[in-house]
Formats: sequence, structure tokens, C-alpha cells
Amino acid sequence: KQAESHILVIFGASGDLTKRKLIPALLELEKQNLLPDQFAVLGVSRTELSDEVFRSRMTEFLPKDVSSELIEKFLNRLYYQAISTADAYDYPVLRDRLFTIAKENNIPENFIFYLSTPPSLYEIIPKNLASVELNQADDGFRRLIVEKPFGTDLESAKELNRNLLDYFKEEQIYRIDHYLGKETVQNLLVTRFSNGIFEPIWNHNFIHHVEITSAESLGVENRGGYYDHSGAMRDMVQNHLLQLVGMVAMEPPVIIEADAIRNEVLKVFQSLRPILEDEVANYVIRGQYIESHIKGNLVKGYRQEDGVNPESRTETFMAMKFFIDNWRWAGVPFYIRTGKKLPTRVTEVVIHFKKTPHHLFGNQINTEQTANQLVIRIQPDEGILLKFGMKVPGAGFRVQTVNMDFHYDDLANVHLPAAYERLLLDSMQGDATLYSRGDAVEKAWDFVQPIINAWNNNPDIPIYGYPAGTWGPDVVDQLVEDGKWRYPCKNLSNDGTYCEL
Ligand code: BG6
Repeated sequence: KQAESHILVIFGASGDLTKRKLIPALLELEKQNLLPDQFAVLGVSRTELSDEVFRSRMTEFLPKDVSSELIEKFLNRLYYQAISTADAYDYPVLRDRLFTIAKENNIPENFIFYLSTPPSLYEIIPKNLASVELNQADDGFRRLIVEKPFGTDLESAKELNRNLLDYFKEEQIYRIDHYLGKETVQNLLVTRFSNGIFEPIWNHNFIHHVEITSAESLGVENRGGYYDHSGAMRDMVQNHLLQLVGMVAMEPPVIIEADAIRNEVLKVFQSLRPILEDEVANYVIRGQYIESHIKGNLVKGYRQEDGVNPESRTETFMAMKFFIDNWRWAGVPFYIRTGKKLPTRVTEVVIHFKKTPHHLFGNQINTEQTANQLVIRIQPDEGILLKFGMKVPGAGFRVQTVNMDFHYDDLANVHLPAAYERLLLDSMQGDATLYSRGDAVEKAWDFVQPIINAWNNNPDIPIYGYPAGTWGPDVVDQLVEDGKWRYPCKNLSNDGTYCEL
């Protein structure tokens, strides 16, 4: 489906996200010939810049494999307007500029507004857009893309939803969760629902537990100020990882369409068994990286990072166990683990199947080897791996675990689109399937809120230190009864407790 001609207005155009992710993604769409013929980007920010200076600033992170003609064609689509975004008096200027650009380039009055600003502006900009009637139109579309974080707790998320809905309708609002834009996250749906062999066993009868890991080797880098008020729960779990849970656990949607899929995700969130404040210590473990030596180099601890309170109790790691109380998942534990400064960068879902009901072969009993695992690798080395037991050749019946794997890298000439490419294109086509719906965002907050409250209210709940470059605090192993975490490496086919940083 070709995207209709429009202007994309990026608020926060001088920020990092615009030049690192959005502009490169748009150029990639240009390269693939997926942008509409009549299309322009209007960058909006407080700093005074000419169109020319804005264009040249946007070249910093452009992919290298693009011809100079194409880059020039693309850069000519970029415009810039300085306004004080918080100030309603500046919006008539914005409106005039938009209509002028539309007219000059023969673009119909279709506008997408992308909020890539500090969250404090998420409520003000829509209101200001409405003050000059840029929020609704009889002819042409108006859409609003909202970056994360969507609220900092349940109350603020609800309030943000209420405020947005004062000026935009739900079907105009696109809440970004860039994990949903990842090719391999979408592949979860295809793996599950285009194969006859998985769905019959995708339930409590056959699955022992589900494990989701999203590890990062980087620390908080230059985002200490933001991160110290956020922590792993708000930064990764409430949004990205719960969305992954939604994809893994949902019932088959009746049709591949935004609301059908998002209804199923919502049902999963509605079925999450609440973890009550006084149960938190039993189900959730939090950690914070401490100074360590990695390959002989001294690595700072979290509390020594710029912008971080030296007595901070913000979690840079967390692991949790929870249940989904519905027919399919009754009694199946789900485990989530995420953290900064872990041994490697990897995100994956591991489905651990139950063992055989009766053990015929000697060494089958005391190993985890013959419990089948399906590893769905989100990144890097994107792909899928099935582990199963095979006979060791020779005398007797010894069992060994072997891998059957598919790596996207093996597909020659295939471009794996970056998350923002896919999401921007979808918003241009009016497809909100890979965007979060307001009710699901609130439900996800509803689930994590008691945990955050318990951490805030109860100083006795420990926060464990873990040396940077390790897999988090040791106590995390105790969370998984009757099994153990997979320690993934960069390469999908390997695992082990240590991977190179
Ligand atoms: C962002 C978080 O939403 O996701 C970051 O704010 C995190 O802290 C990032 O590093 C991880 O995304 P990805 O795509 O690198 O896995």
C-alpha cells in the first residue's frame, strides 16, 4: 500500500533521536522508493536554524551506501521552523509555514506530528496544535506519534491518555514502542500463526516455562539524568518486554489488523496475575551494576556515572517471575530479565518445553539437555533455534542436545528494516498495528505499579550490586525453580555463562 502524500512534522528536531534514528530511517524509505512522491519533513525546535543548516546537520548519521543524488533529493525534502513549542502564540507561524510548504510542493493537507520532545511537552503540543485547528480536518488526515516514555506511572499515563484524547481521537494517536517495529518481533506472530506445528503445543500442556531476556552491554552512557528517574522497570519492562510477552502469549487474532491484534494483547495484559506490594520480594529481583574490571579495564559503577545520585537505588537490572491467569497459560511461569552492563547485547525469547514424561535413556534424567527449547532471537544474529536430543553415535543410548537453527543472515540480499523504518512507514499508511493502544499501555502500568510502589515504600527490599560485565546478581538463579536461565552469546547457536563484551 502506497503511503499518501503528506508532511511529517518532527517536534524536537534538534534532538538526538531525529538525527540518529528518524532521518536515517526516512532516507532508507526513500532508497526503497517507499516515500510518497509528494512528501516533506518539517523539523520544529526552539533553536533558530535555516533550512540549509538543518539539512546539513541531518547528514551526520546517514547510511553510507546511498548515492549522493539520492541524498540530495532527500535533503531537499527537509525544512525547518523555529518556534517555542510550549507557546500557543507561536502556532499560527507553524500553521502558515506548513501550508506554505504544502502549497509549494503540491502536497495535500495531510499532516503527521511526531512528538520527539521531552515528555513534559506531550500534553502541551497537542493542545497548541488544536488551538490553530491542526488536530482535526475534514479533508486530509492528522496523526500524532508519541515517543516513549508514555507516563512515569499509572496515574500519569492515564492523565496523558485523557489529555491527548481531548484533542485527538484514539485512531489518530500512534504510541511508539520501537520493539514492535523490530522485524523479529513481528516474526513471532508469523512463526506462531503460519505454522501448524507450534500452536497445538503452545500452552500449559507442553510448555514448562517461558523466559525473556533483554540484555545490554552498554551502561547508561550520557543518559544518567534520565535513567536515574526511570530504571529498568520503566525503561524496558513496562513497555518493550511486556509487549513481547503480549506477542508470545496472545490468542490467535481473528484477522491481521490493528484492533484485532491489539485486542489480543490487551487480553494478555488483563490476565497478568497481579504481584501485590507485599509479594514483590518473592517475585522480583533488582540489581545495580558496581565497579569492576572488564578485560583489565576499570569500569565505573552506576553510582559513579554522570547525572546519577551517588546514593541512588535505581535498578539497572531486574528479573521477575509472573503468571498469566488464563486457559492457555495456567500455571506456566514467565521469567523476564533485563539489565545494563551485562556480558553481551542480546534480546531473545526462550520457550522451555516440558521434559518427556518417562526417562528411557540413562543420561536423560539428570540433565536439562533433553528438555526442548525454542529460542526466538530478536537481536542480534536474528533467527530461531530449536534444541533437541539426538543419539550420540556408537554403543548404548546416550543423548546429546543438538541445534536446528535459522539465521536471517543466511538470506542473501535481504534488508532487515530498522524498527523506525517500519514504524514510520506504517504511520504514513495509517496502520497502527505496531503501535500501542491507550488501554493496553494503562494495563501494563497497572501491572508494574505495585512493584514500583513496593520499591519506593519499603527500604528493606534489597537492591543487589552486580559487577559490571556479569549476568546480574547471583540470587537471580533462585527465581527460576526447576530450571535455569539460558546464558546467551552474541551468536544465536552458542550459550554459556560468559560471552565476550
Ligand atoms: C530504549 C531505552 O527504549 O530501548 C534504552 O530507553 C535501551 O535504555 C533501548 O537501551 C534498547 O533498545 P534496543 O533496540 O537497542 O534493544
